[in-house]
Amino acid sequence: MRKSWILAATGSLALAALVVGCATPESAKPIVGRISALPPIVYPADNPTSPAKVALGKQLFADTRLSGGGTASCQSCHYRNLGWTDANALSKKENGEVNTRHTPTLYNVGHQSVWYWDGRAATMEAQTLAAWRGQIQADPVKATAIINAVPGYASQFQAIYGGPATPENIVKSLTTFFRSLNSENAPWDKYELGDVKAVSNDAVEGYKIFAGKGQCIVCHSPPHYGNSTFFNIGLEHGKAKPDVGRFNVTKNPADTGAFKTPTLRSIELSGPYFHDGSVAKLEDAVRYMAGGGKPDPNKSPILKDTQLSDKEVGQVVAFLKSLTSTETWEQPKLP
Ligand code: HEC
Ligand code: HEC
Repeated sequence: MRKSWILAATGSLALAALVVGCATPESAKPIVGRISALPPIVYPADNPTSPAKVALGKQLFADTRLSGGGTASCQSCHYRNLGWTDANALSKKENGEVNTRHTPTLYNVGHQSVWYWDGRAATMEAQTLAAWRGQIQADPVKATAIINAVPGYASQFQAIYGGPATPENIVKSLTTFFRSLNSENAPWDKYELGDVKAVSNDAVEGYKIFAGKGQCIVCHSPPHYGNSTFFNIGLEHGKAKPDVGRFNVTKNPADTGAFKTPTLRSIELSGPYFHDGSVAKLEDAVRYMAGGGKPDPNKSPILKDTQLSDKEVGQVVAFLKSLTSTETWEQPKLP
C-alpha cells in the first residue's frame, strides 16, 4: 500500500507537488518544486531486471566461493547495516593489500552514470568485473567453474540465462542486485509527500540551512542528494602523496584532487566519511563541509565557509538523518 502510494506520487511530479502543497501547515512549508523520490532505474538493454536475477545476484554478492582465495566476498566490505560500506577508513583486499580509498556505499549506485570515487568506470558491469578481480582477487574463469559445480547455482543460471554461469552473466546478476539497492522512502520523503509528522522540527530547520545558507544543495541536489559531479574539497591538502582523484581520468589539471559528490541518502549509517575515510562522525563531516574545507589550490570555489553555528550544524545532521531508509534486509541462503 505504502509503496504504491509513493510510486503513484513519483509517477506524477505534479501530483506530488500538489499533495505537499495541500497537506502542509505554514510553519513547515516545504520549498515548492522539489522532487520527492527517486526516478526509476534505467536498466541496460542487455541486462534487464527480474526478481530471480536480483535474488541470484544477492547470493553471489555474499558468497566467498566467488573469490580467488575463498575467504572474501563482496559483502566483506559492503555491509548492509553500515549503509553498504565498512567501518574502516581504508579496507584490505583479499590479498591483504590496503585500498587507497574508503569503501563507498552501494545505495543508489544504479542511479549513477559513472562509477568509483574518480568516475573511472563508464559502466557498472566494467566496475564490477574489476572489483571481482581486484578486491576479491578472482580469476573469473576459475571462479565461474566453481559456481557451475554447485547444483543450486547451475539451476538458477539455467532458468534465468538458459545456460551455465559465465563470467559475463555472473557480473550481470551482481549488477542487477546492486540496481535494487535503493535508499528511498525515508522519513524526509514522507514529509515531502505531506506527512508533516514524519520528521522533527530540527530536521525541517536543517533542510532550510542545507538548501539556503549552507549551500549544500548546490552539489548534493535532490532527489539523490549527490550526483555524478566531481569536486576538490581540500582533503588531500598537505598530504605527502596526494591522491589526484578525477585528474587520473580527465587529465585536466583543474580536476586534481576532485572526487565524486556522494549521495547523502542513508548517510548516517556509512561512516567514516569522505574518499579517504578521514572523518569518523557525521557531525564532523558536516562541520568540515560547512567550514569550507582546507585551502587547496584546486578546491572548488563553490565551497565556502558558511559560518554555521553548532546548533545549525546539529540541525543539518538532523535533516541528514531523516534521509535514512528503513527497507528490510535478509541475509541470502547460499546454495
Ligand atoms: C576489500 C574491500 C572491498 C571488497 C571486498 C569489495 N569492494 Fe567494492 N569497493 C571498495 C572500494 C575501496 C571502492 C572504491 C574504489 C575507488 O573508488 O577507487 C569500491 C567501489 C565499488 C563500487 C562502485 C561504487 C561507486 O559509488 O562508484 C561497486 C559497485 C562495488 N565496489 C562493488 C563491489 C563488488 C561487485 C564486489 C565483489 C566482487 C566488491 N565491491 C568488493 C571496496 C571493496
Ligand atoms: C562544491 C560542492 C559541495 C558542496 C557545496 C558541499 N558538498 Fe558535501 N561533498 C562534496 C564532495 C565532492 C564530497 C566527497 C569529497 C571527497 O570525499 O573527497 C562531499 C562529501 C560530503 C559528505 C561525506 C559523504 C560520504 O559518503 O563520505 C557529507 C556528509 C557532506 N558532503 C555533506 C555536505 C553538507 C552538509 C554540505 C553543506 C554544508 C556540503 N556537503 C556541501 C561536494 C560538496
